[in-house]
Amino acid sequence: MKWTAAKLKALKGKQKIAMLTAYDALTASLVDGAGIPAVLVGDSLGMTVLGYETTLPVTMAEMLHHTAAVSRGVDQALIIADMPFMSYQPSIAMGLENAGRFMKEAHADAVKIEGGAVRSELIEALVSNGVPVLGHIGLTPQSIKEMGGYKVQGKTSEQARKLMDDAMAVEQAGAFAIVLECMPAELGESISNALTIPTIGIGAGAGCDGQVLVFTDLLGMSGKPVPKFVKKFADLNGQMKTALREYKSEVESGSFPSAEQTY
Ligand code: KIV
Repeated sequence: MKWTAAKLKALKGKQKIAMLTAYDALTASLVDGAGIPAVLVGDSLGMTVLGYETTLPVTMAEMLHHTAAVSRGVDQALIIADMPFMSYQPSIAMGLENAGRFMKEAHADAVKIEGGAVRSELIEALVSNGVPVLGHIGLTPQSIKEMGGYKVQGKTSEQARKLMDDAMAVEQAGAFAIVLECMPAELGESISNALTIPTIGIGAGAGCDGQVLVFTDLLGMSGKPVPKFVKKFADLNGQMKTALREYKSEVESGSFPSAEQTY
């Protein structure tokens, strides 16, 4: 069964939703093969696979290239393309055009955009033109320079009220779900209870309707420190390093290839 935005939305209150990022056909086929219903081609690819310091330099060309690769690796999961910095902020027309490119050229099923009430008009325009939208509020990494760092959001009652209003505005504008990033668990739960669309948390506590993590964080691939909200379900960095060292040493000693790997 191919997942749609409507099917994912209908899971609210029935089943918690697992979402994971993927960046190419291999990682996407692993996510899809695990039965995870939604794969996010996050602009986190800037840091996880392209070597940038932040998500800000990520371009439409890079996102299209990786989203197309993900779509070649997926059979069933909903494919959500993250719209990169300044691909939708300058105008509604630019947002519509670039979202259309994700669907036409890279076979995305939906797009994600960062921001709350400020994005209402764009979300309405996208949805009314046939583009399902995943919202994203709380810590929004494309605004990192303005926010002054990767900090927990919504800690004061005024900030919490603003995030609640933003979540309501995103739902009202027609988004099928919303990512809540880095906020107190109590606020994540209140927003989840107030909305009729699913909330997908990342550092927003267990009260959200679903969770999303970054592929390389979940598998412990990078060997770098990860945020508090990450649980490493494996230590692939350690395993990969050991395998690579063994390969080097076997080539150098002449024990690889052995008779078994020889024609
Ligand atoms: O870019 C990304 O991977 C994201 C998720 C972490 C929500 O925005």
